[in-house]
Amino acid sequence: MMRTPEHLIQKYNTQGPRYTSYPPLPFWRATPVEAEWFKHVIKGYDHDLGVDLYVHVPYCESLCYYCGCNRIITKNHDVESEYVEMILKEWAIYKQNLGFVPVVGSLHFGGGTPTFLSPEHLDRLIMNLTSERSEPFIGSIEVDPRTCKKEHIQVLVKNRMKRVSLGIQDFDPAVQQAIHRDQSPEMVRDLVKLMRQEGIESINFDLIYGLPKQTVDTIKSTIALVNDMRPDLIAFYSYAHLPERIKNQRLIKNQDLPGPTLKRELYESGRELLTKEGYRDVGMDHFARPASYLYQAMESKNLHRNFMGYVDKKSQVLIGLGPSSISDSSYSFIQNSKELKDYQASICSGRLAIEKGHSHNQLDLIVQNIIQDLMCQHEVSLAHVKDLPLWDQIEKELRSFEEDGLLVFQDSLVQIQEIGKGFTRNIAMVFDFYLRDQQNNKMFSQTI
Ligand SMILES: C[S@@+](CC[C@H](N)C(=O)[O-])C[C@H]1O[C@@H](n2cnc3c(N)ncnc32)[C@H](O)[C@@H]1O
Ligand code: SF4
Repeated sequence: MMRTPEHLIQKYNTQGPRYTSYPPLPFWRATPVEAEWFKHVIKGYDHDLGVDLYVHVPYCESLCYYCGCNRIITKNHDVESEYVEMILKEWAIYKQNLGFVPVVGSLHFGGGTPTFLSPEHLDRLIMNLTSERSEPFIGSIEVDPRTCKKEHIQVLVKNRMKRVSLGIQDFDPAVQQAIHRDQSPEMVRDLVKLMRQEGIESINFDLIYGLPKQTVDTIKSTIALVNDMRPDLIAFYSYAHLPERIKNQRLIKNQDLPGPTLKRELYESGRELLTKEGYRDVGMDHFARPASYLYQAMESKNLHRNFMGYVDKKSQVLIGLGPSSISDSSYSFIQNSKELKDYQASICSGRLAIEKGHSHNQLDLIVQNIIQDLMCQHEVSLAHVKDLPLWDQIEKELRSFEEDGLLVFQDSLVQIQEIGKGFTRNIAMVFDFYLRDQQNNKMFSQTI
């Protein structure tokens, strides 16, 4: 398998967005007011596709030092019932203001840790959010193996939530100690076995490369254990280290972190072992067994990306419930207040907790499609978008990537080459007009 040459790593290791949205969140402007937002949702809603519903559960029992998610660390489970009622109230505000009950096409629980909630609370939430739904919907959930009981799995299967994603990160004891996350391979193996017995249909493992104390040997051992457990999907994330913004990451010692060359080597060693075991690349930093729904979606060009990651089906409207959740109406984005108390205050007074947002212009929509194609298909046709502003500059930059062998640009088609896949974020940045406008990009993580 070809390794990335050192000079390319040095040249392209810059800071840049991960493009879970375009424009990236720090560039959002023109927040829609609540009435406008509801109008956008109504306009974007298609009864046949329904809405994608995301529910954020911010609680975790213990802090992982690397964590960049919006979460609240507590061992006090008394917080659960009030939280569940708050989410249902937010959903009721939607139903009331839209004037109809949106069909739920998919339901995803993320966090924090959704399995922080008791099986009974999880059951109440899912039942209420999908009570109007008689046809199948796609149900998925992020699971912390350390807080997942048999009863959780039974509630999930009963409610048709059969896609789970397990937070694994790394199995090496020294790495686990450096990130403050103790979880044995044996415990995970037993959980995976139980999930399969109980009827979970798809299991994803989240892994991270670039963590403190990782070496090529530790990554190889972790991947060997992963291969042994045979998850259907693997997200192999690049560690996003932003200690200036994310306080808990300051608990990670700088000298324990791999530099850019070792970081790329960690990724490539992992990728090599996964590929040998039959996993295939899907999108950016994701791997899938050929029989999995995600690989099939890629093959049929139905792979999409949203705020939660890669998906096989996507409707025009995403509604995010809970603090910090993001929603997308196809005409605009909004994000809820990140602080729980601000979120609660708005919801209790019968209003949405809109903190930030962005109303799309024509150019945003064009660039969104370009970046989606690059991230999902590794290619994009620019045949219909020739009148992009700054075209000469864009073309020059694409040609420069071409000279480095990262892509081929011919007949208006940009095709990212194998060696260029690790630089997809850099290539996407060429089309980012907001990034061009601003002086520096210090708010983003390293692209490698
Ligand atoms: C909400 S957590 C997953 C569920 C659960 N809380 C757990 O940790 O098991 C989502 C995922 O984000 C990833 N993640 C969190 N912080 C990250 C960071 N700074 N860089 C890269 N990935 C990160 C981890 O892989 C994590 O599993
Ligand atoms: S990685 Fe998961 S369990 Fe750890 S702090 Fe973040 S959200 Fe919580």
